Amino acid sequence: MSKKLQVGIIGATGYVGQRFVSLLQDHPYFEIRKLAASERSAGKAYGEALQNKQHDFLKLNEKTSKIILDRLNAEDVPTFARDLDFCFCAVNMEKDAIVALEEALAKEGLGVVSNNSANRLKPDVPMVIPEINPEHFDMIEQQRKRLGTDTGFIVCKPNCSIQSYVPALHALKKWEPEVVFVSTYQAISGAGKTFESWPEARDNVIPYIGGEEDKSEQEPHKIWGQITEDGIVASEKPAISAHCFRVGVQEGHTASVTVKFKNKPSKEEILEAWANYEGLPQQYKLPQAPEHFIHYLEDQSHPQAKYDANLDKGMAIQISRLREDSILDYKFACLSHNTLRGAAGGAVLTAELLYKLGWIQAR
Ligand SMILES: NC(=O)c1ccc[n+]([C@@H]2O[C@H](COP(=O)([O-])OP(=O)(O)OC[C@H]3O[C@@H](n4cnc5c(N)ncnc54)[C@H](OP(=O)(O)O)[C@@H]3O)[C@@H](O)[C@H]2O)c1
Repeated sequence: MSKKLQVGIIGATGYVGQRFVSLLQDHPYFEIRKLAASERSAGKAYGEALQNKQHDFLKLNEKTSKIILDRLNAEDVPTFARDLDFCFCAVNMEKDAIVALEEALAKEGLGVVSNNSANRLKPDVPMVIPEINPEHFDMIEQQRKRLGTDTGFIVCKPNCSIQSYVPALHALKKWEPEVVFVSTYQAISGAGKTFESWPEARDNVIPYIGGEEDKSEQEPHKIWGQITEDGIVASEKPAISAHCFRVGVQEGHTASVTVKFKNKPSKEEILEAWANYEGLPQQYKLPQAPEHFIHYLEDQSHPQAKYDANLDKGMAIQISRLREDSILDYKFACLSHNTLRGAAGGAVLTAELLYKLGWIQAR
């Protein structure tokens, strides 16, 4: 390709924002052109704004460290959008403010690949796991009519909590999962925190994450939803019941899953379906795609968040302990990296697929 697409990152100083920078500083398709954060950071060079809050995973190069952070009040949107081909957004703002910001950017003609939850459940906003429901990108045309833009759009990445069990269940769709009980054990980086910024989380388990159980039950149904003239209509099955716990782990969300099927498969059929499942990212060999999407581990003491979350760029889904259940049909454990597969990595993979399919182009 002759020229890399020019990218902006909004929320660049945050946990997810820093992950974006680390993935995009040397990306084959995309080049970081603009960075934005809150009023607190605007006007500072990126490297300076990160003093005392740069995460170990970010190895900042000189060019990026010198970028002056933009602020993004409503009147700043046209200037920010100028010279960009698309942007990523991961901010901790009020829901209404995020909807207004992302829609303003889209109306300015810019594609927005969002980590935020504010627009996720809008019927004409695709919420995509690239290996599972890329056909939902087709909703962009309908969304563009609502927003009055020929080139802008909002595409969301789903919540980090669902990124392991939804792929695991999706690969088994032909046997029709009917009932799912899931408990998640979620890392503190999912709240943008470290043990330095949240010392109470060390050696601790907190049985509540605000809003997380609703997202964990609802978002899978949108991913499995059907495209209609009225937007994406959520699937009705399987019924999902979720418990979400915060645990004293830095990176990696674990889930335990129990499932009942309409047509119960054999254990061998399940293992074969997981082993063979792949999506467009694997077929296109996209830069951020894991070589292999779903890994089954025979060692029952893995996957462990601390040692295994980074497998295959932190983009692989890992499953183990598939066994018969005494009440439903089967149960198993699974793991995904929450700030890579579940946040910045998943969003970068989504953008790579949007680019490959022609939805993102040089403007
Ligand atoms: N962490 C995860 O695993 C994860 C996973 C999936 C989705 N998400 C979602 O991603 C988003 C960011 O999460 P995070 O964990 O990265 O949060 P975070 O570490 O608290 O970072 C928040 C970012 O938002 C910026 N910001 C705040 N107000 C702003 C404004 N008015 N205009 C522009 N930027 C503003 C902050 O800038 P300052 O530094 O200047 O304050 C910072 O860069 C949230 O919506 C979260 O739900 C997070």
